Amino acid sequence: MNEIQHGSSDPIGAVDGHDVVSGKPIVPLGHHELRRADIDPKAAIRAERQVATMFSLSSLMIVSSIVAFIKVPNDTLVILPLFGPVNANHITVGSLLGLGIFLIGTGAIHWAKKLMPDVEVTEERHAFASSAEDKAAFGQAIRDGKAASGVGERKIIRRSLLGALALFPLPLVVFLRDLGPMPNKRLRETIWDKDIQILTDATYRPIRPEDIPIGGLVNALPANLLKIEEEDGNLNERGKASIILIRMAPADIVSQQGEGWDYQGILAYSKICTHVGCPISLYQQRTHHLLCPCHQSTFDLADSGNVVFGPAARRMPQLPITVNAQGYLVAASGFKEPIGPSFWERG
Ligand code: FES
Repeated sequence: MNEIQHGSSDPIGAVDGHDVVSGKPIVPLGHHELRRADIDPKAAIRAERQVATMFSLSSLMIVSSIVAFIKVPNDTLVILPLFGPVNANHITVGSLLGLGIFLIGTGAIHWAKKLMPDVEVTEERHAFASSAEDKAAFGQAIRDGKAASGVGERKIIRRSLLGALALFPLPLVVFLRDLGPMPNKRLRETIWDKDIQILTDATYRPIRPEDIPIGGLVNALPANLLKIEEEDGNLNERGKASIILIRMAPADIVSQQGEGWDYQGILAYSKICTHVGCPISLYQQRTHHLLCPCHQSTFDLADSGNVVFGPAARRMPQLPITVNAQGYLVAASGFKEPIGPSFWERG
């Protein structure tokens, strides 16, 4: 590659009008128009300020995107021409961040076009593998380019660019907040408690032990869920409290998570897979295995809900059950361990 630096007698990488690598004569390029900034120091200063302004504005946009992310409500819609209703938080944060990135790009282009050395380049075809001289020339060209870009001397540009680039990853860190609040105790506990009646999850009927035949499976919920859902209007508790009841011959039960947690061979387990939380009710009566359809984790419900196959790392939590005075199935207590997927605060 030959670079012809205007104002010098020989191009970069040439000696006596010949390319230092190939030895071929350098063909002079046509007339070259110098830029304003090349001949007028005031124009160069003006361009420098314009570049610095773009980088500084970029910093402002990036910081503003963080402020908007925190301050602009994300449950409000605004109507935009052509787009229709859009989320106010998303459009504000996206626009500010996009503008911040755009300004870094335009600042860099403006810098290159107005202030960096104005050279014309010719490139001759040659073998793909670079010779040692080519590599050395390339390294030198990089160093020359760095020196010529003025990044060392143009402090205002360098600092404003470094500021913009340093701030750029910040929104990505702040946006992690959208992963949701820390779960704290909410993932540890469900609304199951002692004497909470067990209802079928489709018809909300209480269940007697004789309603479940050996080999049968019933999807179930706690009776206190309905009132909570009426008041809260969300399904969070349902997602945690869903259970399955299965019945097997008591002699088939190898082990349980607690002494006497079944009722006459009826066992209650969480329905939420301990891998990543899919609801499960694929039960094979013959093997007593519960199979998660998402990634095929398999739990042995006759043996404490232990994992026998698949990616789940924890057994399926068991809910101790009994019957109340009316003969309906109820919880004997809440779950003794957190249900669902592992989480970092689980301990
Ligand atoms: S969610 Fe059940 S195996 Fe992945």
